[in-house]
Amino acid sequence: MARRADSISNSMKCVFPARSINEGFARMAVAAFVAQLDPPVSVLSDLKTAVSEAVTNCIVHAYRDVDSKADCPIYITAICTAGGLLRITVKDKGKGIPDVALARTPLYTTDAEGERSGMGFTVMESFTDRLRVRSAVGKGTTVVLEKQVGR
Ligand SMILES: Nc1ncnc2c1ncn2[C@@H]1O[C@H](COP(=O)(O)OP(=O)(O)OP(=O)(O)O)[C@@H](O)[C@H]1O
Ligand SMILES: [Mg+2]
Repeated sequence: MARRADSISNSMKCVFPARSINEGFARMAVAAFVAQLDPPVSVLSDLKTAVSEAVTNCIVHAYRDVDSKADCPIYITAICTAGGLLRITVKDKGKGIPDVALARTPLYTTDAEGERSGMGFTVMESFTDRLRVRSAVGKGTTVVLEKQVGR
């Protein structure tokens, strides 16, 4: 049977608690999945950085006020299509973002201590082909990163 060019050819899901130590795990898990598409090193590096920014946001912002990080899941799913499109979703069930458009503005940060530069979403946007952010206050945030990886 003929396959449509955009049909899903592979997929993965993983869930882990929002602890800093898992940021490296998330980068490597996505890199291992993406490797099957035989991407250029620069593309792999860009994707790892974008995922790292999304996961770091879950860790430092989404669950900021929760004491027990074991109760703070981060969900990552990735799919790739026969046509080489990669779609990575990073989702949390944290506090949510009241104004997504504002949050996506370069240099915007709610970090009062001044440790953050407010460039995470800008990095995600520039290192992928498309960034979508859905969020609901009190429910959580979903970030969808898309990139054409197949050559
Ligand atoms: N998953 C999330 N849950 C709740 N708020 C978030 C989440 N992701 C981002 N935000 C909000 O959006 C703002 C902008 O995020 P962005 O990643 O661009 O910058 P930052 O995290 O503040 O700084 P940087 O990423 O440069 O260290 C954050 O300061 C935070 O208020
Ligand atoms: Mg950030």
